[in-house]
Amino acid sequence: MSNKVDAFVVAVDGPSASGKSTVSREAAKALQVMYVDSGAMYRGLTWKAVREGVDVKNAQAVIDMMGGVNWEIFVEDLILRFTIDGDDPTDHLRSEPVRERVADIAVIPEVRQFMVDRLRETATFGSLVMEGRDIGSVVFPDAAFKYYLDADPEERARRRHLELLETEGKGNVDEVLNSLARRDKIDSTRATAPLQIPLGAVVINTTAMSIEDVVQRIVADVNGR
Ligand code: DC
Repeated sequence: MSNKVDAFVVAVDGPSASGKSTVSREAAKALQVMYVDSGAMYRGLTWKAVREGVDVKNAQAVIDMMGGVNWEIFVEDLILRFTIDGDDPTDHLRSEPVRERVADIAVIPEVRQFMVDRLRETATFGSLVMEGRDIGSVVFPDAAFKYYLDADPEERARRRHLELLETEGKGNVDEVLNSLARRDKIDSTRATAPLQIPLGAVVINTTAMSIEDVVQRIVADVNGR
């Protein structure tokens, strides 16, 4: 899996707004290993589809587009980054058109296989914390450390709403709750690699926990083993 003898993988899975992004980023920093946001790759492809006017419900059109795309994957300041056909999509990954379409892109088995292959290759860079939906179950089923973060839907909607207020200056809690429920449904009922608790994962319900507490829990666990 990795070319480094003592390299290790920390897999963090869970639904949207369960706290996994912030927790994974902070845990990677504390452990001084690379951070990989696998959702960003699915979002990147979605951004490309939106930009090219490709209908994400048309799986064949998405697959055709994906075949012609040039990905450059690299590490910068211990964060995995990428460009698509030379463009850095980072600033667009959380935009509304991408947010509303990404779950449809992520149901396409060929897209998932492509992403799983790319994500596995990242382990050649060394130890890492990777967050997503299928990291401990499909991408790295043999990961030494697996966590599944969850939180009550209302708390997740509250967090996502706060985020939207910060990034877009607007947002409606009920709409956020509905949008999260829609994505959860697509993510957990899709045929290929649905969101699930990976075998052997430590489940952490973050509803009443601070980010620092969750990070501490993971870092202490990794350092202690
Ligand atoms: O974690 P996120 O919100 O950035 O994920 C965006 C979408 O991509 C979400 O609908 C789930 C999907 N995804 C996935 O299916 N598998 C992953 N490993 C990561 C994300």
